[in-house]
Amino acid sequence: MGDTKFDLLEKNRQWVKEQLELDPNYFNNLSLGQNPEYLWIGCSDSRVPANQITGTKPGDIFVHRNIANMVVHSDMNMLSVLSYAVEVLKVKHIIVCGHYGCGGVVAAMENQQLGLIDNWLRHIKDVYRFNAAELDAIKDNTERARRFVELNVIEQVGHLGKTSIVQNAWRRDQPLTLHGWAYDVKDGIIHDLGVTFTCTKDLHKVYHLD
Ligand code: CO
Repeated sequence: MGDTKFDLLEKNRQWVKEQLELDPNYFNNLSLGQNPEYLWIGCSDSRVPANQITGTKPGDIFVHRNIANMVVHSDMNMLSVLSYAVEVLKVKHIIVCGHYGCGGVVAAMENQQLGLIDNWLRHIKDVYRFNAAELDAIKDNTERARRFVELNVIEQVGHLGKTSIVQNAWRRDQPLTLHGWAYDVKDGIIHDLGVTFTCTKDLHKVYHLD
């Protein structure tokens, strides 16, 4: 076991060397600013790094991550990231990417008390309740957890559409598409869940903001 801090800094210097060998202007160019086309809302899980699994580079994706890729409308962190991404960076796509085997989603299916995190998991439990008929009908635990991951992503994509930030962008005719994806840690494949939102009419009318 090495000193973790030392290892990471060592790896950083090695990475810098490699980038400069490929392109001596690499960091100079990145320092000029960012113009990403994508906002990624993903899980904090260490196995689901946005750039690596999409084959993209620094500068390509603006990223927000939390436990179980939640879009909680009172979360100032998420709202600030969303506002900056949509209003300043003008990203064209927002991707909510969940992942099969998500510990947060699995914990939300169970009844064990875990501490402070129970308050966060409550948001995921709500998604279970909204979809209880479909989920309870799936007898296999693993299959039920997989479907729950998908339904949770679909719900969070809907939450994005309900924000005034996204609805105002659509009203300005700013191109902005919301996507829901699920990543499979077992094989590295990302599945598009087919919940693409491009305008307010994709939402229940009670959520329309004029
Ligand atoms: Co997760």
